[in-house]
This record gives sequence, C-alpha cells and structure tokens, in this order.
Amino acid sequence: MDFRGKVAIVTGASSGIGRITALRLARLGCRVVPVARRAELLESLVVECNALTPGSHYLAGDLGERDFAQHVVDDTVSRHDRLDVLIHNAAIPLHKSLYRTSVEDAERVLRVNFLSCLWTTFAAIPPMLVRGGGHIVNVSSFAAKVVPTHESVYAASKAAMNAFSEGLWNDLAGSGIHVALVHPGPIDTEIWQKLDEPGHYAGRLYPAESVADAIVEVIEKRRHEIVVPRRNPALVTARLLRFFFPALIRIGVQRTDPVDPDSVERARRRAREGKRLGEE
Ligand SMILES: NC(=O)c1ccc[n+]([C@@H]2O[C@H](COP(=O)([O-])OP(=O)(O)OC[C@H]3O[C@@H](n4cnc5c(N)ncnc54)[C@H](OP(=O)(O)O)[C@@H]3O)[C@@H](O)[C@H]2O)c1
Repeated sequence: MDFRGKVAIVTGASSGIGRITALRLARLGCRVVPVARRAELLESLVVECNALTPGSHYLAGDLGERDFAQHVVDDTVSRHDRLDVLIHNAAIPLHKSLYRTSVEDAERVLRVNFLSCLWTTFAAIPPMLVRGGGHIVNVSSFAAKVVPTHESVYAASKAAMNAFSEGLWNDLAGSGIHVALVHPGPIDTEIWQKLDEPGHYAGRLYPAESVADAIVEVIEKRRHEIVVPRRNPALVTARLLRFFFPALIRIGVQRTDPVDPDSVERARRRAREGKRLGEE
C-alpha cells in the first residue's frame, strides 16, 4: 500500500503507541488526524506530523461520548473528502480489585475502550464503502487472551473488540474494507502509570515502535491479526497453555497475582451492610 496522500485517524494519539503510530504514518506520507483529550499534546504532535507530511490536524475530546466519536469521523471526511485508515487505539486501563470497582468505573472502561471503537467504525464504514475500501485497525491487548487478576473489565472491553473485529472481517468481505487486530503485550508507555492499584508485572517492556511496526504491517499485508512482541517465550507459552490447558492457565494466573484474602473479608462485611461493589 502506498500511504502517500491517504488520510488516517489515530485515536489515543497524545501519548504512547498512538503518538508513535501517528508519526510513523505521517513519515509514510499520510495526513493524520490524531485524537485524544489532551489538546496541548496533540497540538505539538501535529506540528511534527506536518513537518513530515503537510495536512494533519487534531481533534480533542472524549471518545467515551458517542457524539464526539462520530464527529471525529464525520469531520475528517468532510475536511479531506476521504478516510483511508481508522486506527482505534485509545483506551484506559482498569487494574483494580473487583470489590473496589463500581459499575460506573466498569461502564466508563467499556465506553472508552470498546464502544468508541464501535461508534467510530459504524461512522467510518459508509464513507469507506463510497470510496471502495479502507483499513480499520483495532489495538486490543494480550490481556483479552490470558486475563490477568484485577483486569476482568479491561480484558472484557478488549475481548469485545476482538469478537467485533473478527465478525467485521466476515461481514465486510467483498466491500474492500480490511479489518485488523493488533494485540500488544507489555509495552513501555505511560499506561503503566495509570493503573488504579499496583500491578505485579516486573518483566521487560517493549518499545511502542514495535506496535507501530505491526500496525503498518497489518495494513500493508492486509493481515487480520498480530501479537506484539511475536516471539516472547512467556507470551507464547501462555497462549499455548490457554488454548490446550485453560484450567492450568487460570491456576497459574491466580498464583502469580493472588487475591488478598483480607480484601475478600472486607468485601463480605460491606456486602452485609448492603453496599454495592465499589462502595466504601
Ligand atoms: N502499553 C501496554 O503495555 C499495552 C498493552 C496492551 C494493550 N495496550 C493498548 O494499547 C493502546 C495504547 O495504549 P498506550 O500503552 O499507548 O497507553 P497511553 O499512553 O496511556 O495511551 C492511551 C491513549 O488513549 C487516550 N485516551 C484515553 N481515554 C480517552 C478518552 N476518553 N477519549 C479520548 N482519548 C482517550 C489517551 O489520551 P488522553 O489522556 O489525552 O485522552 C492516550 O493518548 C491502548 O488501547 C491499550 O489498551 C497497551
């Protein structure tokens, strides 16, 4: 694929993987529309993108709101008269004891991580159909394949994205619209500073560039999915165990990051007082 002259939306581009991916696409000749909430970071990113390829501009707002998510696509199409690539990468983590998680916390994660992907995709399909095709790349997570303790809602938001993307691959057959999934493992970005409660992972973190490489690769080769990093022994073993011995992987996850028995007792006391999950 020749990226020159193409228009790409990259959500979650104010930091981490999204930022690096936006720059990579601009270097390849795309006009990029980076999206996130922190406008000042998007502003400086757009200056860098425009130095590589002129024509980029940002849109700042909350993708957890349907109106804004749809506006991102509609505004891009009306300004550029085309949309070739939609990269859905924005997400918030939720690493927190289930007992301390409110239903509002959980809904927010599903809106930002999954529903915004659904809203932008629904908005992008008609203009892509009109132009004869396009690429939709969804940045998921290895956590949806092997679910860590304290991340059931985050993993569910990514698992929903996986099923949606797999279904779209079938439903959009013959339309020219290609749908791909990129599943990052541990990547060195600020997301690790945003965990609600301390995580247990202390292994290697891989560079965000490796995910940007994978995003470009799935587009160029029209592949459906890639795990990044590809040959990390722990991730390969975990996936094999998950596939062949799911009970074993559940035991392994629980032992690696066990639930504190005191937290169960505290939750039981709050439940007796009639409290909901997440209520102190
Ligand atoms: N890093 C990892 O180890 C890892 C592993 C697996 C999967 N992933 C996935 O990779 C993707 C990128 O994450 P990252 O590691 O690069 O983390 P990051 O640096 O925290 O990036 C997350 C991006 O999402 C944006 N965002 C969050 N909430 C938003 C909202 N309501 N509306 C609009 N934008 C929002 C953030 O910008 P603002 O705060 O400015 O809005 C930021 O640009 C995510 O989908 C994440 O789940 C990462």
